[in-house]
Amino acid sequence: MIRKMKKEDLPAVKSLMQSVPKFWHEVWTDETLERGFTVSEGLSFVYEADNQIAGCIFGYNLGFRGYLGELAVYEKMRKHGIGKKLLLHLENILREQGCEIIIADAWKTAEPFYRKLGWSEPHTMLLHKKLIDK
Ligand SMILES: CC(C)(COP(=O)(O)OP(=O)(O)OC[C@H]1O[C@@H](n2cnc3c(N)ncnc32)[C@H](O)[C@@H]1OP(=O)(O)O)[C@@H](O)C(=O)NCCC(=O)NCCS
Repeated sequence: MIRKMKKEDLPAVKSLMQSVPKFWHEVWTDETLERGFTVSEGLSFVYEADNQIAGCIFGYNLGFRGYLGELAVYEKMRKHGIGKKLLLHLENILREQGCEIIIADAWKTAEPFYRKLGWSEPHTMLLHKKLIDK
C-alpha cells in the first residue's frame, strides 16, 4: 500500500536508503533527509507491506519540471512491482499538478527499470559540480 511519507517514517526510510550500497552519501545527515522530505511538500511516499516500509520515493514539483529525488526498494522486496507503483504514483500526481516532464539522475543499473516505464534519455546532458569534496 502506498501512503504519504510522514516525518516519523524518516528513521525507517534512512535504514532503507542505507541498506542499498552507495545510496546514502557520506555527507548526508538526518537534517539532509528531513530537508529532502520537507521540501518535497507532500510528494514523498512510502510503500508499506506488513506494517513495514518496503520502498520510498521523494518527488519534487519545481514548477518548470517535476523531479524524482530518490527511489529505493529493499533488495528482498524487489521485482514485485513496488518501484513501479511508487514511480507511477508520483508521475500521476505531478501530471495532475501540471508538470509536463519528470527528470531524474538515474543509476545506470536502474536504467532498464526506467526504460520499461517509458523513460528515455533527454537531448540535454546532465552536468554536476561537487560543492563539498569528500
Ligand atoms: C530500481 C528499483 C527501485 C526497482 O524497484 P522494483 O520494485 O524492483 O521494481 P519493479 O518490480 O516495480 O519493476 C518494474 C519493472 O521493471 C523491471 N526491473 C526492475 N529492476 C530492473 C533491473 N535492474 N533490470 C531490468 N529490469 C528491471 C521489473 O522486472 C519490472 O518489469 P515488468 O513490469 O515487466 O515485470 C530497485 O531495484 C532499487 O531500489 N534499486 C536500488 C536503488 C536504485 O537503483 N534506485 C534508483 C536510483 S535512481
